[in-house]
Amino acid sequence: MDEKLNILLVDDQPTKLMAYEAVLGELGENLIEAHSGMEALEQLLKNDVALVLMDVCMPGMDGFETAEMIHQHPRFENTPIVFVSGICVTEMDRLKGYRCGAVDYVPVPAPPELLRAKVKTLVDLHRKTRQLESLNAKMTLLQEEERRRIARDLHDSVGQLLAAISMNHSAVQSESEKLSARAAHCLQENAEMVEEVSKQIRTISYLLHPPLLDEAGLEPALRCFVDGFAKRSDIAVSLQISANLGRLPQEAEICIFRVVQECLTNVHRHSGSRTAAVRVTREKTYVRVEIEDAGKGIPSPASRLGTSMQAGVGVLGMRERLRNLGGTLEIRSSDEGTRLTGVLPAAMIDSSDSPSAATPSISSVPSA
Ligand SMILES: Nc1ncnc2c1ncn2[C@@H]1O[C@H](COP(=O)(O)OP(=O)(O)OP(=O)(O)O)[C@@H](O)[C@H]1O
Ligand SMILES: [Mg+2]
Repeated sequence: MDEKLNILLVDDQPTKLMAYEAVLGELGENLIEAHSGMEALEQLLKNDVALVLMDVCMPGMDGFETAEMIHQHPRFENTPIVFVSGICVTEMDRLKGYRCGAVDYVPVPAPPELLRAKVKTLVDLHRKTRQLESLNAKMTLLQEEERRRIARDLHDSVGQLLAAISMNHSAVQSESEKLSARAAHCLQENAEMVEEVSKQIRTISYLLHPPLLDEAGLEPALRCFVDGFAKRSDIAVSLQISANLGRLPQEAEICIFRVVQECLTNVHRHSGSRTAAVRVTREKTYVRVEIEDAGKGIPSPASRLGTSMQAGVGVLGMRERLRNLGGTLEIRSSDEGTRLTGVLPAAMIDSSDSPSAATPSISSVPSA
């Protein structure tokens, strides 16, 4: 059986709340009441709400203001809101409602079946979205496992074979005076190519899944990645990590690592910036990761229209990864640069070891 979803009913009049409960009760979902905009915000913070059904005219903060506040919060920016009003029913009111991000605007009195049908459609849609999100989270996990396996295979099979080829080469090289000049030259070229392939295999294997992430944790893995990235891209990257970061649960470490990896790749591919800054901060209630550049900024959706520029999956993927762990992603961009901020909540990081006990030794980290 499907899990019950929460529907938040917001109205200052208790009789109207009772009426909504009578109409929506047979949907079999969980109905939560709030008597004001403030109370609605409190309920949203406490519960995972699938849909908000909200009166427009309320004393204090009205429905429009409440909707704007709800959608300003990164966690609730996509929470669907349906306005219900018996007073504000003009075209202008409805337009204002849609501008505040409403998915529907129902003038009352409305036939109970109609209201019930609308709510059911939106709740079903939410349930399907949830199923897709959960599938996506599983795919992300599988993808990480696959990357880990390929990285290990590359290192253990191809890497070992290349090492064996190098050893054989040394044996042949020691007798190279017996070869013609051309053969000796080819031998030397082969040695250089094997060296280059080894380097590339190590880099590919590292980018697929840095072994340091599992063995030593986020900080050394990030330092190693950022150093390597700065050398490859010629972008000067500063990295600041809270001294108390310690070890986080594996999924949180992978998530933050992948966010930094994708953001720096974006800085290199899209921003034109010669510098970037990465900050990872651990506070009591959250871990925050920020990646900032001084580039040209993300083009607005409008400026992409009519061009062949396609939005990729990088930003969407980061947002999903963070959301799967209860976190958020915020992007600020202007023609002076871009800053992405990812936040993972305490619930995600509390299960980790105590920071001081698990802080890995940085001195053991090889430079990239
Ligand atoms: N730091 C940045 N500076 C400027 N533009 C950026 C930056 N990061 C992202 N963008 C813009 O946002 C778009 C979406 O980024 P996203 O990472 O989702 O996709 P992508 O990098 O184009 O492709 P993919 O990540 O799927 O390979 C980019 O195409 C680019 O136009
Ligand atoms: Mg990208």
